[in-house]
Amino acid sequence: MMYENAYAKINLFLDVLSRRADGYHDLCTYMQTVSLCDTVSAEITENMPDTQIVLTISVSELPADETNLAYRAALRYLAAAEIKNVHLRMHIEKRIPLSAGLAGGSTDAAAVLRLLNRHFGHRLSLDTLCAIGKTLGADVSFCLVGGVCRCDGIGEILTPISAPAEYHVVIAKAHAGVSTPEAFHRLDALYGDFSVRPQRDIDLLHHAIEHGDIPTLSQNIYNAFEEVILPLHPEAALLKEQMLAHGAAAAMMSGSGPSVFGIFSAETDALRCTDAIGKSGVFAAICHPVSK
Ligand code: C5P
Repeated sequence: MMYENAYAKINLFLDVLSRRADGYHDLCTYMQTVSLCDTVSAEITENMPDTQIVLTISVSELPADETNLAYRAALRYLAAAEIKNVHLRMHIEKRIPLSAGLAGGSTDAAAVLRLLNRHFGHRLSLDTLCAIGKTLGADVSFCLVGGVCRCDGIGEILTPISAPAEYHVVIAKAHAGVSTPEAFHRLDALYGDFSVRPQRDIDLLHHAIEHGDIPTLSQNIYNAFEEVILPLHPEAALLKEQMLAHGAAAAMMSGSGPSVFGIFSAETDALRCTDAIGKSGVFAAICHPVSK
C-alpha cells in the first residue's frame, strides 16, 4: 500500500485581473500549502489481463467514478505514461472541507499523480505532471509543486518562493459551500471586463512572504472574492471576527470561499481559537504552512 498526503492550500493574496475568451479568468494569486490534508492510499497490481481503477472515498457526498478529479487524474497518468494492464485500488481519506476554497479536489488529483509517478519510477517529469494537472483544473499544477508560489495566468504559471513561513494557521468553514464558477460569475457581474479595477501593489506582500515578516504579510493579504461572497455568507465574516478576537494577526477568506483562515504568531492563541470555533459546531483546524 502506498500513501500520499494531499495538502490544502490557502490564498495569501488573490486578485482577478481579467476575463478570458475561454471563460476562465487571469489571476494574480499567492498560494501556500498547509498541513491540513487528505490522504490518498493506493494498491497497485501490475501485469493484469486488463486495466481497472476502483476509487473509494471516506465521505458519501463525493462521486467515486470517472467524474471524480482524482479518478480522472489516474486515467490521464496511465495514458500519458503508456501504462496498461494494472489494477489500481485507491482510497481518499477526506479531511479538507468540501467546496471551501481550499483546493480539496485539485489536491487529491495532484496527490494521485505524484503517487503513481513515484510507483512507476518517476517516469514523467514534474513539468509533464503539471501539464496533465492543467487539463484537470487551474489549481492542480500548484498542488503538485506546493510550498508557497506566486501563481499567474489562470493559476498555472508558478513562481516558487522560498520562505521561512513560521506561523500558525487556523482554518474554519461553516456548513454552506460555494461553487467556484458561481463566485467568478458574481465578480463578472460586478466588474464586467475588469478594466476599471485598479491593479494592487504586491511588492510589500512578496517581500514579507520571502522574509517571514508576519506583521507586514498580515497587513497586505487580500482576496477579491470577499467582496461578493462575504455578504452572502455572514457566518464566514463572523468567523473572521472570532479569529481576530482570539489574537490572529489577520484573517481572510481562502479562494472563492467560504472557508476562512487566520494567521497566528502564537500557537496557544491558535489552539484556543480552534477550540472555541469547534465548540460552536463549526469545522475548525489548526495547521501550519508546508514548504516544498
Ligand atoms: O479549473 P477549475 O475546475 O478548478 O475551475 C472551476 C471553475 O472556476 C472554472 O470552470 C471557471 O468557471 C472558474 N475559474 C476561472 N478562472 C480561473 C480558475 C477557475 O474562471 N483562473
